[in-house]
Amino acid sequence: MEIIIQQSDRAASVLAAKIVAAKVRQKPDAVLGLATGDTPLMLYEELVAMHRNEGLDFARVTTFNLDEYFGLPEQHPSTYRHYMEEYFFKRTNIDLRRTFLPVSAGRDVEADCRQFEEKIKECGGIDIQILGVGQDGHIGFNEPSSSLASRTRIKTLTQETRKNNAKFFSSPDEVPKHCITMGIGTIMESKQVLLLAFGSKKSQVVAQLVEGPLTAMVPASILQFHPQAKILLDDSAAAQLRRRDYYEWVYSNKPNWQKN
Ligand code: F6R
Repeated sequence: MEIIIQQSDRAASVLAAKIVAAKVRQKPDAVLGLATGDTPLMLYEELVAMHRNEGLDFARVTTFNLDEYFGLPEQHPSTYRHYMEEYFFKRTNIDLRRTFLPVSAGRDVEADCRQFEEKIKECGGIDIQILGVGQDGHIGFNEPSSSLASRTRIKTLTQETRKNNAKFFSSPDEVPKHCITMGIGTIMESKQVLLLAFGSKKSQVVAQLVEGPLTAMVPASILQFHPQAKILLDDSAAAQLRRRDYYEWVYSNKPNWQKN
């Protein structure tokens, strides 16, 4: 794990955007794994700005989102498809036919999940997976106690997650109870992972996922096993890290040949 602490959420998002942009420039048909929620909004803003100002080209890029609510009508404004279109897809030249979210009409959910996984494989796997983290340690919607080997499947959201996500709905009762999410095993197969976490409300879970034991009760702690995971934090999200000085020392002394 590489722990990168920046002064602000904007600075951390700019850094994440530069890593994604470098991949897309080096591999124009890169496969990106995307997240929704508050955390990646600035990252998308930066990528959109790079598209507009520097010609960053998404025409051949393929995307797979981590998750989607189950049971929301397609035209509902709170679907993650809608979020992605609003903040990223329609502001770039991405080809919508190459954007995938784990959806199911409900007739054969398992087959739909299998097909999503097969599509990822067919595209050569995910080059960079963007992640946020829930205060309870979830990644995607793999809530605590999810199998650390899980694949894409239907999950039941915790009441806490539903409450946090209520801001995207007109009433808390409207938040679906179920979603389809990439599994933890699926996420772990991504070639590189960028987990972003901002603000003091994430400081406890950040300390747990970086420095705590590996446990299904903090699903994000599995990233301790990922060979290419960067944890990008702002100052307040890093506040409870015991070895913060060391991470900052490592980052400021990173050899040039290791910069990526
Ligand atoms: C969203 C997702 C979730 C969020 C997490 C944090 O696609 O997979 O794991 O990343 O709930 O949400 P925010 O960023 O709103 O704090």
